[in-house]
Amino acid sequence: MVKAIVQHEHGGPDTMKWEDVTLGKPGPGQARVRHTAVGLNYIDVYFRTGLYPSPLPLTTGMEAAGVIEELGEGVTSFKVGDRVAYAGRPVGAYSEARIMPVDNLIVLPDSIDDTTAAAMMLQGMTTEYLLQRTFHVKQGDTILFHAAAGGVGLFACQWAKHIGATVIGTVGSEEKAELAKAHGCTHTILYREEDFHKKVMEITDGKGVPVVYDSIGKDTFEKSLDCLRPRGLMVSFGNSSGPVTGVDLGILGAKGALYVTRPSLMVYNATRPDLEKSAADLMKLVASGAIKVTINQTYPLSEARKAHEDLEARKTTGSTVFTV
Ligand SMILES: NC(=O)c1ccc[n+]([C@@H]2O[C@H](COP(=O)([O-])OP(=O)(O)OC[C@H]3O[C@@H](n4cnc5c(N)ncnc54)[C@H](OP(=O)(O)O)[C@@H]3O)[C@@H](O)[C@H]2O)c1
Repeated sequence: MVKAIVQHEHGGPDTMKWEDVTLGKPGPGQARVRHTAVGLNYIDVYFRTGLYPSPLPLTTGMEAAGVIEELGEGVTSFKVGDRVAYAGRPVGAYSEARIMPVDNLIVLPDSIDDTTAAAMMLQGMTTEYLLQRTFHVKQGDTILFHAAAGGVGLFACQWAKHIGATVIGTVGSEEKAELAKAHGCTHTILYREEDFHKKVMEITDGKGVPVVYDSIGKDTFEKSLDCLRPRGLMVSFGNSSGPVTGVDLGILGAKGALYVTRPSLMVYNATRPDLEKSAADLMKLVASGAIKVTINQTYPLSEARKAHEDLEARKTTGSTVFTV
C-alpha cells in the first residue's frame, strides 16, 4: 500500500483525497519509482476538473523525481537505485510511489537534486520546445510571454535572455513584475491594469512581435493576436483562464495572415531521442547557472488541495514542489 491523492469525481480542489492505494508489480518496460518530490503544474488542474478527460478514480500529476525500487522483466536500460525524474503521461504522479514506463524516465546527474528535478522537468522542457522548436527564438528577437512570473514563465524569461532575446512579459502584480525582471524579463506589463496590446506596440515602435506565447487562453487570445506582426506566430499553449473556443479563421487573415499553433510537451517529446535531447538541453543550462530553478512554494503532497487553491488564485510564483 502507498498513499496517493485520489479523486472519485472531477471537480474542485476538495475532490482530491489522501487515500491508500495498492500498487502492482512493474511489468515489461516498466519500473516502480519511489517518489521523493512531486511537481505541481497547471495541467494538474485541467485533469482535476475534467477539462482534460481522464477515467476515474484519478490520481493526477505528471512530474516527479525519485528512486527506482523495482524493474519489470527485460528492462536493462535502468537499474534499481537509479535516481530518476519524469514529466508527462501517464497521469498519476501525486503518489508516494507508482509504476512508470521506463521510456519516460531520465536518470538524474549528481548535480541536480530531487527537489530541483521535480520543479524543472515539466516547466523547463516545455520552455525548451517552445523557444527552440515551436518557434526558433533567436538573438535580437523580441517576444511576448504571458504569465512571466509563473512556473513556465520564469524558465522562459531566463532561457530567452540566455539566447539573447528581449522578453516582454505580462504579470498580475508589481511583485510579480519584479520577480520576472530579476529572471531576465526586459519589459513587464501589468495586464490586469494596462492594455497589453497598446504597451507591446509602444515597446516595439508599432511593429508588433514575431511570436506570442499565450498560456492564459480565453481572456487574452484575441488581444494576443493583435500584438503580432504580419505572418507572426501565435503559440496558444494553455488555458489558465479557460479554453479558447469557436475561433473564426477569418480573423487570422484580417489581423495579418497569422499562424496559430496549439502545441503540447507530450507531442514534442513523444520519442525517446526528443525526450533525451530536451532534458539534456535543459540540464545543461541549469548546470551552467544560466537557468536558476526558482521554487517559491512547497507543500506536503497530502495538502495538494491547498496547493491547487493557491495556484488557481494566482498566489504562486515560479515553481511549486510537493514533499513526499
Ligand atoms: N502545452 C504545453 O505543453 C504546456 C506545458 C506546461 C504548461 N502549460 C501551460 O502553461 C501555463 C503555465 O503553467 P504553470 O504550471 O507554469 O502555471 P503558472 O504560470 O505558475 O500559473 C498560472 C498563472 O497564469 C496567470 N493567470 C492568468 N489568468 C489566470 C486565471 N484566470 N486563473 C489562474 N491563473 C491565471 C497567473 O499569473 P498572473 O497573476 O501573473 O497573471 C497564474 O499565476 C498553464 O496554462 C499551463 O497549462 C502548457
